[in-house]
Amino acid sequence: MNDDIEYLLHDEAAIAGKVRELGKRISQDYAGKELVMICILKGAALFTADLVRSISSPLTLEFIQASSYGLATSSTGNVLIEKDTETDLQDKHVLLVDTIIDTGRTMGCLFKLLSARRPASLNVVVLLDKSCKRRVEVPIAYKGYDIPDKFVVGYGLDCGEYYRNLPYIAVLKTDR
Ligand code: IMP
Ligand code: MG
Repeated sequence: MNDDIEYLLHDEAAIAGKVRELGKRISQDYAGKELVMICILKGAALFTADLVRSISSPLTLEFIQASSYGLATSSTGNVLIEKDTETDLQDKHVLLVDTIIDTGRTMGCLFKLLSARRPASLNVVVLLDKSCKRRVEVPIAYKGYDIPDKFVVGYGLDCGEYYRNLPYIAVLKTDR
């Protein structure tokens, strides 16, 4: 394991199993419907890539990028849209994908923004929920794991842009 890791939360096999389980539920719920999956960059890139391969419904893929954290490890509360989606979402079944929800500010802001585009439905899927940190309530239709109030990295999640490539999800050492 990487030397900067304090301890492991979810290993590669557990994540793969959980992603398949979420994909199966989504496939059942959206049977006969067409989905627009919106990946929240950059953190959700790996999760989205795996999740879409576990979904059998026809779907298209979109990307949105919002920033709230910058390079630091705590939220500033400011959310900025750095890259927007490219197709018309009106009357589409939209699923917003993120790897982690913390205060909920990012997801809350994106949820509001996308709701205004009048999709047929709008739901949220997150792999990790740091629910104890929530400041903005967001309805989460699909959730992988609840996690404690620790800064985690891996499987797309970074600290200063590093560690996204770790295949597992782990708590970072504070004294690196
Ligand atoms: P929120 O707006 O506070 O919910 O923060 C959401 C975003 O902050 C996520 O999309 C991540 O990019 C980032 N984030 C929150 N917690 C963590 C963490 O523990 N590790 C890495 N990134 C995190
Ligand atoms: Mg980050």
